[in-house]
Amino acid sequence: MENNKLTSQEPSSDKKTKTTFSGNIGYILAVAGSAVGLGNIWRFPYLAAKYGGGIFLLVYLILMMTFGYAMIVSETAIGRMTGKSPVGAFQSFGSKKWLKFGGWINAVIPILILPYYSVIGGWVVKYLFEYLRGNASVVSGDAFFGSFIGNSLVSEICFAVFVLAAFLVIVAGVKNGIEAVSKIIMPLLIILAVITAVYSVTRPGALAGVKYFLVPNFKDFSIMTVVAAMGQMFYSLSLAMGILITYGSYLKKDSDIEKNTTEVEWFDTGIAILAGLMIIPAVFAFTGGDMATLKAGPSLMFITLPKVFDSMGFGNIIGSVFFFMVLFAALTSAISLFETSTATISEELGLGRTLSSVIVLAVSLVLGTASVFGYGIWSFVEILGMQILDFFDFLTNSLMMPISAFFTCILVIRVIGFDGIAAEVKLSSKFSRQPMYYVVTKYIAPFFLMIILASSIASALGIITI
Ligand code: PHE
Repeated sequence: MENNKLTSQEPSSDKKTKTTFSGNIGYILAVAGSAVGLGNIWRFPYLAAKYGGGIFLLVYLILMMTFGYAMIVSETAIGRMTGKSPVGAFQSFGSKKWLKFGGWINAVIPILILPYYSVIGGWVVKYLFEYLRGNASVVSGDAFFGSFIGNSLVSEICFAVFVLAAFLVIVAGVKNGIEAVSKIIMPLLIILAVITAVYSVTRPGALAGVKYFLVPNFKDFSIMTVVAAMGQMFYSLSLAMGILITYGSYLKKDSDIEKNTTEVEWFDTGIAILAGLMIIPAVFAFTGGDMATLKAGPSLMFITLPKVFDSMGFGNIIGSVFFFMVLFAALTSAISLFETSTATISEELGLGRTLSSVIVLAVSLVLGTASVFGYGIWSFVEILGMQILDFFDFLTNSLMMPISAFFTCILVIRVIGFDGIAAEVKLSSKFSRQPMYYVVTKYIAPFFLMIILASSIASALGIITI
């Protein structure tokens, strides 16, 4: 319907004819394209640097293998069994208010993430442009990043370029073409990342950074480590925001959910770890492990990588190729956000696809502009002590996603039942991790999610300082 690789076939359980991925590979590409993006390359390293290094990594890995796995399976199974995107999927189990709310919170999150995601995408556009112009040594200067984001006009243009590119892909219906190309770009990105990581970790002084990133130190642990790791896990795996429900609804009954899930989660995590190895040791090599740089937050990648590239000798080439590939990865993620947002608006408001995508574009331009200005002409604005972009990130990842994941768990526990999920998964998989799935979803997840949510709220209100 909307693109060439989805083939219209298989009448689904309801009367509509449903589009289905043409094969397993189409599904893997779409899910991996959505999962791997700025979350891995930009967000993961800065959170790991900020929240304790090795201990953050350890908590992340544990969460990913338990929680992350359970959530991917739940969402994909719900999508495949109902054949609907989140709002419709939740409501196909009844008309109770909480079902409606559960569906909607899933659906609203991508609409809020897309704008600020595109702002960071715009930063990547700017860096690519500078490298193409041969400015490797200019961008590696200490003041470059700050003065760039402080210039609202330039940042706004870069942001608009990125969001318009995603929009054009959606309206032109070439989404799967882009995802197929990313199948070639991704392995190249990995190779370049490996080269850069090897270079970074072998710089004098970098070993302290490798140690900081890989060896857990329990004195660096705080509740915020868990809050941040959890938010990152949702973000990186594109969970708790209806995306996998939507993609699951396109999945054929004979596609192996368990195998696909395992592949995607390890691929995604591998890239994040690689990005950490590129960036964190470099902070130690270039600044001696300066705390202010380690805690730099969203700007970390943009401050540290240019220094690495510049010192490698042929910085303009490496920088251009690297940022081009990152841009591609970011674009495939943005496309999945755009796609889900458009589908929700079109289904729920009964509008056409093009009009719905224009609405998503308009919302993104408005909210994204606020994030851009938050670093420039509106830098005096603070929400709960955060800049506007950080606030949107916190709102979606630390507040809304735990709530949305909680509702998904309750839907599984109270309505669908474990047998229902197991029956769906077992149509195509052995489901060897079923006991773990059961324990995590029933006993750990709901309780844990509420603790995470409470800690996030408490920290935002300044009740606990972490
Ligand atoms: N998972 C993507 C990333 O790691 C970001 C993303 C978030 C994509 C939410 C879709 C939805 O960059």
